[in-house]
Parts: sequence; structure tokens; C-alpha cells
Amino acid sequence: MDDSRRIAATDDVPDDGTLLCTLSGGDEKTEAILTRLDDGTIVAFANYCPHWTDVRLDKGSSALVRDGELVCQKHGATFERDSGVCNFGPCEGAMLETIDVVAENGSVLLTDDDYAFESLGASQEYDRSSGNQIGF
Ligand code: FES
Repeated sequence: MDDSRRIAATDDVPDDGTLLCTLSGGDEKTEAILTRLDDGTIVAFANYCPHWTDVRLDKGSSALVRDGELVCQKHGATFERDSGVCNFGPCEGAMLETIDVVAENGSVLLTDDDYAFESLGASQEYDRSSGNQIGF
């Protein structure tokens, strides 16, 4: 695994929130959110709500984690942090888009071949305004 796959130190990933980073894939930038589970596993998801895909879960200062679940603050959908499954709200049953990462030797490494790591924080080019919305 080369250093260009390193996203952050594992210690930088919160268990009560998310760490935001920007990935590139094809011609587009994608934002990802990383969070640490109770057993120390680190998981990552694309930073948008499946209800309205132009809504970010993490707007730059961490997504809301309440009772161990990720919360979309737009309409209150909650997502299991291990699987990304929505277990309550207007998009119940939908899933966050998983991005493959692994923790290794104190670092979080991107293992998803669809993406390359760009930077920590929000993307300047991020625009999901053409995203889909599930009516409710
Ligand atoms: S946009 Fe996330 S619950 Fe509606």
C-alpha cells in the first residue's frame, strides 16, 4: 500500500462524529466521511443522504452522531454506523454508499479502487445539485 492511499491517522477519526475528506474518482470529486465504531473498526461512506442526494451529512464540522447512529439533520433519518443502513426516516431501508478503507499501523488507508485520496476536509468542487430526491 503506497502512501498516496493514506487518509489520516486512525486517532484522528472520531467515534462520536465524522472526519470529512475529499476523494477523486473519474472526473469527479467525492466527499467521504469516516467514523470509528465501538470495536475500533473504521468505516467510510460517501457524504450524502440517500433521501436527497444533494444534502451532505457532514457539512464541514462533523456529521451528527446520536445514540451511536449517524443522523441526517435535514429530515432526521438515522443510519447504522456499521452498515450505513437507514433504520428510521424518509429513506428507511436505503443505504449510504460504502467506501472501502482499512486501518493499518495507525493509519486509515483507502482501499477502494474507484477512488483516489485528494485531501482532508470538504471539496471545493463538490456539487450534488443534480442529485436525485426521494419524495416523501
Ligand atoms: S435529506 Fe436526509 S433525511 Fe431528508
